[in-house]
Amino acid sequence: MKITAAITGVGGYVPDYVLTNQELEKLVDTTDEWITSRTGIKERRILKGKDQGSSVMGIQAVRQLLEKTNTRPEEVDLLICATVTPDMLFPATANIISAGVGIQNAFSYDLNAACSSFLYALTTAAQFVQSGIYKKVVVVGADKMSAIVDYTDRSNCILFGDGAGAVMLEPSTDGYGILDQVLCSNGNGEQFLNQKAGGSRRPPTAETVANGEHFIYQEGATVFKFAVKNMADVAAQVMTRQGLSHDDVAWLVPHQANKRIIDATANRMGVGPEKVMLNIQRYGNTTSATIPLCLWDYEKQLHKGDNLILAAFGGGFTWGAMHVKWAYNS
Ligand code: COA
Repeated sequence: MKITAAITGVGGYVPDYVLTNQELEKLVDTTDEWITSRTGIKERRILKGKDQGSSVMGIQAVRQLLEKTNTRPEEVDLLICATVTPDMLFPATANIISAGVGIQNAFSYDLNAACSSFLYALTTAAQFVQSGIYKKVVVVGADKMSAIVDYTDRSNCILFGDGAGAVMLEPSTDGYGILDQVLCSNGNGEQFLNQKAGGSRRPPTAETVANGEHFIYQEGATVFKFAVKNMADVAAQVMTRQGLSHDDVAWLVPHQANKRIIDATANRMGVGPEKVMLNIQRYGNTTSATIPLCLWDYEKQLHKGDNLILAAFGGGFTWGAMHVKWAYNS
């Protein structure tokens, strides 16, 4: 009997503080009109407070996930945290989240594929379920992007926000869950989107800090071009491989980086705006959390058997798309 990895629950968390376009107008030379028309973003959430890392949000999302799925922490076999903003370079934020929610009998680790982290993590987690090894695997995407955003850089500070979302994967023998994916990466994209310092190549020094090398660096227009083409390509590729027409697709669940990239992907797939999950206007780009936060926001509108196409593009470059058959009614 073929085992697939079904998503059996969703949890999410966004911090209380709302950073609006109007507030950004006071910080940098920008306007609400420019941000809205170029990105679709109106506001984002920011995690405030001293010594608060991505794990704080991940813990909230996973705690809610365990409650909603009636799962005791000791039942979880594995937890993978998708993040580009771990609390520390080590230990893994996944370990901190596990400890925070009382998961004890599991192993846990982080996975970083920039804005494609969640899709990569979901694919990785699914293998452990499909193989029959594990029964309950948590994938949490958590990013505190405000930790690496330069709030004097108008082209970047408008884009990002903080948040976390989590899903539970469990075995299905009825054909629900993750059915196919195409994942890609190309390291030649390194130069266009990165955080230059803080790793082993350029450890932190007074100079790297003074140069702003610990912030996100991005050549926005170049990244935009690659994102539009590649995200749309893989989404269309997965549909073809799975024999899905646009009528068969119930939802596009896109990474929320820029509404114009999302629109281009939907157009290429031939799906109308009514089938596109969109919350970029409220959260901005939360990197590893965008896709699970979409599922979290739209969960009540999902029906058992719906065909979902998840799609992402990010630094690296990394990109991918996935076909998920939704496994439950809320
Ligand atoms: N407010 C007002 N003007 C701004 C601005 C802001 N917040 N940010 C940039 N500009 C200006 C630029 O300085 C530039 O001015 P210039 O022509 O005088 O130099 C002009 O707007 C156009 O800049 P450009 O970067 O070409 O704009 P764009 O239409 O490409 O939009 C992004 C910029 C960042 C919104 C867009 O490139 C983007 O979304 N890129 C991809 C981002 C992304 O998805 N990253 C994550 C990948 S997962």
